[in-house]
Amino acid sequence: MLIKKRSGIEIPSSEITPQHLYLSRRQFMAGAALTTTAGLLAACGAGSPPEDANGAPVSSGDGSTAVSATTDELGDPLNTYEQITTYNNYYEFNTTKDGPARLAKDFPTSPWQVEVGGMVKNPKTYTMEDLLKFDQEERIYRLRCVEAWSMVIPWQGFPLAKILNEVEPTTDAKYVRFETIYDPDNMAGQRNRMFPWPYVEGLTVEEAMHDLTLLSTGLYGETLLPQNGAPIRLVVPWKYGFKSIKAIVKIELVDYMPISLWMESAPTEYGFFANVNPEVDHPRWSQATERRIGELGRRPTLMFNGYTEQVGHLYPNPNDDTNLNPRGT
Ligand code: MTE
Repeated sequence: MLIKKRSGIEIPSSEITPQHLYLSRRQFMAGAALTTTAGLLAACGAGSPPEDANGAPVSSGDGSTAVSATTDELGDPLNTYEQITTYNNYYEFNTTKDGPARLAKDFPTSPWQVEVGGMVKNPKTYTMEDLLKFDQEERIYRLRCVEAWSMVIPWQGFPLAKILNEVEPTTDAKYVRFETIYDPDNMAGQRNRMFPWPYVEGLTVEEAMHDLTLLSTGLYGETLLPQNGAPIRLVVPWKYGFKSIKAIVKIELVDYMPISLWMESAPTEYGFFANVNPEVDHPRWSQATERRIGELGRRPTLMFNGYTEQVGHLYPNPNDDTNLNPRGT
């Protein structure tokens, strides 16, 4: 079952698309859901889906599009499939924007397991087949990179909370630590010692349990491509993009604040919370505005990337640098 949500607010699908389009889309997506596992096992680097004039994939079956809306809830257009899959940050491959699409093409994403443990009552190792059994929802989110570019992306996935509820964190667990696969044979970037691999990120348990916090397995109705973090990556839309860790193999509940790869690599520039905040500049550039990929000019950065209504309560003192300053904790 697919549930269409935009930034965590459930919107009846009838409000998003004309009824006949919605119904035919449901049929397409139901088919897509059934075939996702097979697709993953066959070829994660499957070729591009058919595209419309704007570069967005369309289903080949019934002519309906693979997404429920063409804008986010603020009315801004989705970035194209082409943009989302060819302009990437994935330092395990290289540090250019166009490199990951090329270099990650044959990255093996199957078989894959995600080990969930630490301070939990029921530790569990999930296969991708297990993870794809959770209802895959569509979420249209803005992704704001700390480098001051952004995109609007129609993800598929399921709330991280669904897994956390199954494994049941103990009362001592305060943070969630995530780890990317360490696979230097297949990730050339991990062979250079510039960074302390594997990539690590963290959230508080409260942040991790928030309904906006997604584990994504696809976008635009297609199985996630390697460059976007296949087969499973985190998406935390109110935080700078580096928190949205790709190719996750380990999720651990802990009682200490995890040190992320970026905190370790550049502690004067990157902190734990890393909430999007136009008022706190990166030490080397302003965060007041951003460049939406595909647009000319710049647009103002929104506090919490436009998700204040949903997450503002998690940060009772918005002027407290501990919560908002990307430079330190
Ligand atoms: N996860 C891993 N493992 N390695 C990375 O280099 N880059 C991060 C994040 N997750 C990164 C990662 C950064 S800086 C951003 S902005 C987003 O992924 C980019 O996601 P995208 O390439 O799907 O747009």
